[in-house]
Amino acid sequence: MDRHERLLRMDISHLWHPFTQMKLWEREPPLIIEKAEGNWLIDTLGRRYFDGVSSLWVTVHGHNHPEIVQALSSQLELLDHSTLLGLSHPPAVELASMLISISPPGLTRVFYSESGSTAVEIALKMAFQFQRQTGNTEKKAFVALEGAYHGDTLGAVSVGGISLFHKTYEPLLFAVHRLPQPHCRHCALHLRHPACGLACAETLEELLRRDEFRICALIVEPLVQGAAGIIVQPAGYLKKIWDICRKHGVLFIADEVATGFGRTGSMFACQKEGITPDIMAVGKGLSGGVLPLAATITSEKVYEAFLGEFDEFKTFFHGHTYSGNPLACAAAIANLKLMESEHLPQGLDALITRFNEAVAALADLPHVVEVRQLGLMAGVEIVADKERDIPYDPGLRMGHRVIMACRARGVIIRPLGDTLVLMPPLSSTAQEIDHLVAAVAESISEVTGR
Ligand SMILES: Cc1ncc(COP(=O)(O)O)c(C=O)c1O
Repeated sequence: MDRHERLLRMDISHLWHPFTQMKLWEREPPLIIEKAEGNWLIDTLGRRYFDGVSSLWVTVHGHNHPEIVQALSSQLELLDHSTLLGLSHPPAVELASMLISISPPGLTRVFYSESGSTAVEIALKMAFQFQRQTGNTEKKAFVALEGAYHGDTLGAVSVGGISLFHKTYEPLLFAVHRLPQPHCRHCALHLRHPACGLACAETLEELLRRDEFRICALIVEPLVQGAAGIIVQPAGYLKKIWDICRKHGVLFIADEVATGFGRTGSMFACQKEGITPDIMAVGKGLSGGVLPLAATITSEKVYEAFLGEFDEFKTFFHGHTYSGNPLACAAAIANLKLMESEHLPQGLDALITRFNEAVAALADLPHVVEVRQLGLMAGVEIVADKERDIPYDPGLRMGHRVIMACRARGVIIRPLGDTLVLMPPLSSTAQEIDHLVAAVAESISEVTGR
């Protein structure tokens, strides 16, 4: 038995993969990715694949970038790990200062953790405790959007709104007020944009007029609901819900885990609509896609509510063992320095235009009902009947079939149901973008044509 076979057998015998029906896993021999070069992944059989999903939306400068590798090896010679509970270290300090300099104005404090879910969990706990410590003890409830995805820990699942992922856990979750999903093709209010005047945002005004004294915070994925299928919000929606929250004294939490670090064409999506959230959760691209690192970034107003003498017990009693790990921070510093020296995200304009034009053309395919794109993120939704907007039977796993067909063409992407998610690294070349989109077009035609 060769090494590849041995690894396959051990994988099937012992590994439990995330978001994966393991019964089906055994039927389709998995790729085992062994190494990477730039924007390409290479498996144990030496086959090369373009990383069209940025290794789950994280890769910024391609894999194994020499400057990030160098920063990591230098850091490793100095300090591998030391806690931030009661101590500090240079990479955590320097990175915090760099993060504040690129964040929307008014954000001043950085609290580290390791994943997008923990960054969100921290944001929710901070918001809740902020209200209690500023005399608003009745303000306990959260507002979130239908179709929201904020991670897989229980607080994040509570504010999540994707029934397939979240419904099972309902008995364990706290109740949340829901706003209709700002997805114009499936408008819950049966209105048309722009004549609707963003009525979906007005539902927040109604809720807060009635209940503001009970509402602690709103949480939203700014501009794009990623895991819902790259649902791009209509222009002005984000600013409008932010204005409403401010008017009613409700904290605004922006979950920039997917949208942060240039993905939408701005450093942060909030900056595209000129807003500053009270709390911003970041992760994924923060370390350039190299090591697990996340941060919850807050305004001074939020931070100050936690100050007091020890026996006032206003401390934020939260922290993870590896919070702000020096290696992860060193990778993030190298990532941000590279972004600066390569003029990212401003320098992405031409690439984004090319991506936009290429993916927009997919809408001409007979089974593509909608192409949703912003920056370097796109969702391409396929349906059984485009005229009548009738989805495929989920059991057909059409999205999955298309991504398997893409693999045969040297491209790795992931579906969200029957939406194909295209999320190329920010370091992609124009030729790589063309290769990605051509592979997706051919794969859709092959699979839907059957
Ligand atoms: C908007 C958003 N928030 C939070 C998360 C959770 O991040 P993690 O998987 O790092 O916990 C994700 C992951 O996709 C996300 O897209």
